[in-house]
Amino acid sequence: MPIIVKSEEEIALIREAGRVVGQVLRILAQEAKPGVKGERLDKIVRKEFEARGVGPTFLGYQGYPASVCLSMNDEVVHGIPGERELKEGDILSIDLGATYKGFVGDAAVTIGVGRISRDAERLIRTTEKALYKGIEAARAGFPLGAVSHAIQTEVEAGGFSVVREYVGHGVGRSMHEDPQIPNFGPPDRGPILRKGMVLALEPMVNAGGWRTKRHDDGWTVSTLDGSLSAHFEHTIAVTDGDAEILTLP
Ligand code: MF3
Ligand code: CO
Repeated sequence: MPIIVKSEEEIALIREAGRVVGQVLRILAQEAKPGVKGERLDKIVRKEFEARGVGPTFLGYQGYPASVCLSMNDEVVHGIPGERELKEGDILSIDLGATYKGFVGDAAVTIGVGRISRDAERLIRTTEKALYKGIEAARAGFPLGAVSHAIQTEVEAGGFSVVREYVGHGVGRSMHEDPQIPNFGPPDRGPILRKGMVLALEPMVNAGGWRTKRHDDGWTVSTLDGSLSAHFEHTIAVTDGDAEILTLP
């Protein structure tokens, strides 16, 4: 499939979906305290989405059973909210998608629950910084590889590793459109970015090795070596200048 270039009107709808994602991520980050169960956060998503007139993109996607992905500690992505309680010192990745008038916004953050270790804090801040380096590199006329390379460079300078098996993606009427966006690779590869492309950049970063494994639930992905993992994601639009982040509150 070719990469779909969006009109201003389409980008405005993605921006609306994305704004809600940003707002609800902020609420979830405040609610994620020790003793809170994942299923409670999932309920908050359903309530807040309903109040804001958007749909939960993830619910039912390839059979996914919840409205948000919650991945703790060594979990990388796609953790399912359940009865497990958060505890002091955990790190929690929250990944959320909203659909508004047929268009999707997709974003993720990793937060600490209560006080966390210095190593965990550094992993989180490095992953967030890598996302922003990727966003800075997303410029019309440059290859997509520049984005991948900028992310990888930041992560590896921090002594961490980039997950290889999961990637960012184009986003629009579907959550997953072309292109796939690896968080690693040489800067001169891939399609040339054009104004109007809408991309979800989402570095997943492990404190140890990059390899992962999938749990028996068919969804949850963890680091193979049990090391901590962090994940940040924004949906962005390529413009004539700096990319616009569409998933800000
Ligand atoms: N943001 C993720 C992604 O881009 C989460 C979607 S997984 C789902 O792939 F199945 F839960 F929807
Ligand atoms: Co995504």
